[in-house]
Amino acid sequence: LPTHFVLPSGDAIPAIALGEFHLILHLHLPSPSSHNRTWQASKGEVGNAVKVALQSGYRHIDGAWIYRNEEEVGAAIKESGVPREELWLTSKLWNTFHAPEDIEPKLDETLRRLQTSYLDLYLIHWPIAFFPDEPQKIDYDLTNNPYPTWKKLEELVDKGKIRNIGVSNFNIRRLRNLTDNGLRYKPVINQVELNYFNPQPELVKWSKENGILLEAYSPLGSNKQVGESLNIPEVKGIAKQLGITPAQVLISWQAQRGTVVLPKSVTPSRIEENLQVFRLPTKLYEKLETAATSHKPQRVGDPSKAWGIDIFEDEV
Ligand code: A2P
Repeated sequence: LPTHFVLPSGDAIPAIALGEFHLILHLHLPSPSSHNRTWQASKGEVGNAVKVALQSGYRHIDGAWIYRNEEEVGAAIKESGVPREELWLTSKLWNTFHAPEDIEPKLDETLRRLQTSYLDLYLIHWPIAFFPDEPQKIDYDLTNNPYPTWKKLEELVDKGKIRNIGVSNFNIRRLRNLTDNGLRYKPVINQVELNYFNPQPELVKWSKENGILLEAYSPLGSNKQVGESLNIPEVKGIAKQLGITPAQVLISWQAQRGTVVLPKSVTPSRIEENLQVFRLPTKLYEKLETAATSHKPQRVGDPSKAWGIDIFEDEV
């Protein structure tokens, strides 16, 4: 299986990353106090997961400003002693900061917290812009025309603060809407939910044809559906046949589909397990692909209702 994918910049992005815990709560933007409490509960866990991951051989950490743990991640990386140039660090621009003048200060905050001078990849976290002072109020101008945001990101590439830029949670229409502007640097990555329940075969095909690499978040169905996904008969059958675990079957299948895979775990043994991927024999790969794409797709995470905007537009 590919251990890396090469981007137009020539940079090689490791195929498996440690995904980080972003409690689904952030999608509903609770009051600041409850937000803090939630994060305190997981304090230390993410830093520890990062340390275990780096010791196990991971070189790719997928984070975001909104996860509110970049300081902890930065400290864990520093403690690991892994040289910066061996690492692939991704972060994401939060919805509240799409206005061009807000982007660089927020990026600088991320860089400072991660204790680095550049990111390997910076993504627009959602195709939705909020007004800065009213966190859940949608700025339709910047949402419908993301070009000013993108232009600023291009400048930050020129400045050397970001090596590659991309998007997250964009459907095909929203990507076309962005790229129709004749960009200097095209989005090279789209990070989206991809798993057995929501395998998005059309998006996978279109992205391949259009030179955009997909990254799969919630590849095991997230904490909400991981139990169910490890119990899928086809997955269990293939695991037994190959002598690997159901999680390894699901992660391997997705890497074999040609996507970067971002499994999340705070459990050391699982963190190690998730990095071991195996090429599935063609017949078994096709069996799983057919099973995954023949049921009604079901998205595990969708803040459309919470935010009052149809983000995925039925995948148009
Ligand atoms: P935990 O962090 O307690 O180890 P996803 O990557 O799809 O978002 O799924 C994350 C969920 O899957 C978490 O609840 C995580 O639990 C669990 N998980 C991650 N890796 C494995 C694994 N190899 N086996 C079983 N559960 C796993």
